[in-house]
Amino acid sequence: MPGRPSPENKMRLLGIETSCDDTAAAVVVDGYTVESNVLASQDEFHRAYGGIVPEIASRQHAETINAVIELALRKARRGFDDLDGIAVTCGPGLPGSLVVGVAVAQAAALARDLPVFAVNHLHGHLFANYLENREQPNHPPPVTPFVCLVVSGGHTDLIAVESPSRHRVIGRTLDDAAGEAFDKVARILGLGFPGGPAIDQLARSGDPRAFDFPRGLIRNAGYDFSFSGLKTAVRYHVDAHPEDVERRCADLAASFQAAVVDALCEKTIRAAGDASVTTIALAGGVAANSSLRTELRRRAADAGIAVLVPPLAYCTDNAAMIAAAAFYRGEQGQVRPQDLRIDPNFAW
Ligand SMILES: Nc1ncnc2c1ncn2[C@@H]1O[C@H](COP(=O)(O)OP(=O)(O)OP(=O)(O)O)[C@@H](O)[C@H]1O
Ligand SMILES: [Mg+2]
Repeated sequence: MPGRPSPENKMRLLGIETSCDDTAAAVVVDGYTVESNVLASQDEFHRAYGGIVPEIASRQHAETINAVIELALRKARRGFDDLDGIAVTCGPGLPGSLVVGVAVAQAAALARDLPVFAVNHLHGHLFANYLENREQPNHPPPVTPFVCLVVSGGHTDLIAVESPSRHRVIGRTLDDAAGEAFDKVARILGLGFPGGPAIDQLARSGDPRAFDFPRGLIRNAGYDFSFSGLKTAVRYHVDAHPEDVERRCADLAASFQAAVVDALCEKTIRAAGDASVTTIALAGGVAANSSLRTELRRRAADAGIAVLVPPLAYCTDNAAMIAAAAFYRGEQGQVRPQDLRIDPNFAW
């Protein structure tokens, strides 16, 4: 397995990420040292529609990708000649978004005669835990085996990680992803898009015990999740008590968030205990949630389990995590540039 950077063993990769609505590029050495991490958010273009419009996403990627890559290289004080390869997200994601990053990576790799690595976006979220963590300088790199909860806008997956190149999906949501539930409930509460950060913020002033919302599948054996019943329960409550959206919005946000966090913590800690691992890693956009970070750490500590959480900027979509995944998976992801393809349904 590749180790931390050393003078003899340096692999500098340009990461490119355009799977959804963020245009991102980064320069990362040995899957650890982040020389630059640039992101152009498209939130302002999608906000008016209350969600991501695929057509707008792909157009915005096409307009900004070259400037984002140039800026990532400039911030890293590097040029294409300093690179050892290009890592690009090939899926899962929106086809029209993925194709922009893949086309640019392919062109650059052919023009500069560089190796290219086809990266699964979900592997990227997982390998965000291997990047340097300036928020916790002494935080240990993940030691396998561990359990990773990947909790994002499109996925809620529990992964048993046996080594950087071997993992198994042991649980997943049977309906909505947790991030999707945050976004849909935010819309019900009139909190705008993206919903996760808005609910996180508002929940700080609410009572998480004000409403007893359902914790889908929490008592079931196995490690699968369900969030659609929770979302529906919030909708039914608001339909029956529309005045609560004005008067008790913070309580609704806090109670909804508590139900999501409870289900995520319960299953993840149980999975780690059953697998006898002593480390849980958190990944994906919902890993930015303050209550999930705090509560998972608190409950896991009671069970003698350590929790690794990437810095906020590496939880939501970014290109540094794509470069890290390519580094750790090495030849598993390397393809000839002319064979690079998008794979919108790329599975774990
Ligand atoms: N502080 C937060 N609390 C809760 N959810 C959050 C927070 N910050 C971001 N999110 C949610 O994270 C999601 C975005 O995460 P991410 O960028 O990883 O998802 P994605 O890339 O769209 O989906 P996927 O990675 O599954 O393809 C959104 O649903 C957003 O609401
Ligand atoms: Mg993502």
